Amino acid sequence: LRQFSLQYTMSSRSISKVTVIGAGLMGSGIAQVSAQSGYQVTLVDLNEQLLGKAVQSIQTSLERVAKKQLKDRPEEAKQLVSKTMANLATSQSAADAAKSADLVVEAVVENLELKRSLYRQLDSTAPAGCLFASNTSSLGIAELAEAVPNRKPTFGGLHFFNPVPVMRLVEAAFNQLLEFSRSLGKSAVPCKDTPGFIVNRLLVPYLTEAVRMLERGDATAEDIDTAMRLGAGHPMGPIELADYVGLDTTKFIMDGWHAKFPNVELFKPSDMLNKLVEEGRLGRKTGLGFYKWD
Ligand code: CAA
Ligand code: NAD
Repeated sequence: LRQFSLQYTMSSRSISKVTVIGAGLMGSGIAQVSAQSGYQVTLVDLNEQLLGKAVQSIQTSLERVAKKQLKDRPEEAKQLVSKTMANLATSQSAADAAKSADLVVEAVVENLELKRSLYRQLDSTAPAGCLFASNTSSLGIAELAEAVPNRKPTFGGLHFFNPVPVMRLVEAAFNQLLEFSRSLGKSAVPCKDTPGFIVNRLLVPYLTEAVRMLERGDATAEDIDTAMRLGAGHPMGPIELADYVGLDTTKFIMDGWHAKFPNVELFKPSDMLNKLVEEGRLGRKTGLGFYKWD
């Protein structure tokens, strides 16, 4: 596979206005770190309720960050929160919010057709030269970009990790997005346009293998998690991490890869995962997954 990011040389459009679409776990974090770094951010979701919840979670997360970074300087900590919040606006219209954007970061649910139809809407209003980036966990960037062929030279992958304010890595499939990631204070690695880039190609099959181990009755969820925390030094065990990522997102990733690569054993669906998602037990975000969350 050729490296998607290096196919194009383009003049650098300086970024000051960032539109983030999807105000869920990832979009709210991406909006937060962008606003914290001084970008003018518009966060978009389908309704006021979802946006209100996202703004509340950004405020809470910022307060944690400010308290940690400016422990003995409460006035500066307050200012960090208020300055960041002042850089943040919300909208229910992706097309409107893209009108003056220099960069659009898409973080809606992991569904190829939904994402493609969104890009087509954005294409009708976003300025020429506006960068389009997807935070996709598993979909091909070139495949996503097919929806907006004239935008291909300015379309890339920009993959953050959950929780965005804490995790230091960003994977970027596009040179200009590497620069943007670094401007947020993140370490950035360039990636080829391969499914799951580096981290998820390794991590998501591992999470699903852990679910299969549970399904076979080889170990309990608690023992699997304890084993990987204490035996491999991971901050969270895989069952807990699947809940943390979202069981729907984990399932969408595996279903997509299974459809594309039906003979790869590692990508085969898990009945247990499917059942939990069907029951609406999506993990931490719904309060219940493999575990009960506060
Ligand atoms: N916002 C701001 N700060 C936060 C935060 C948030 N949302 N979540 C945690 N923190 C901060 C806390 O304030 C805390 O700061 P102090 O060190 O000052 O106390 C610090 O992070 C650690 O948090 P906690 O003490 O609450 O809990 P913890 O030590 O168990 O760490 C964790 C929590 C950072 C989530 C850690 O368990 C961890 O790293 N887990 C693994 C996460 C991971 O693997 N993420 C990748 C998922 S895969 C993915 O994202 C890609 C995909 O496409 C699916
Ligand atoms: P999420 O379910 O928490 O949030 C998705 C949000 O998108 C929801 O608030 C939903 O209302 C909104 N949305 C759906 N359609 C929309 C539309 N047409 N316009 C505007 N908003 C719309 O999901 P998430 O975990 O934040 O994942 C978002 C993306 O990031 C996915 O592509 C996922 O694969 C990827 N990702 C997830 C993680 C993770 O750990 N959860 C990590 C990295 C990347």
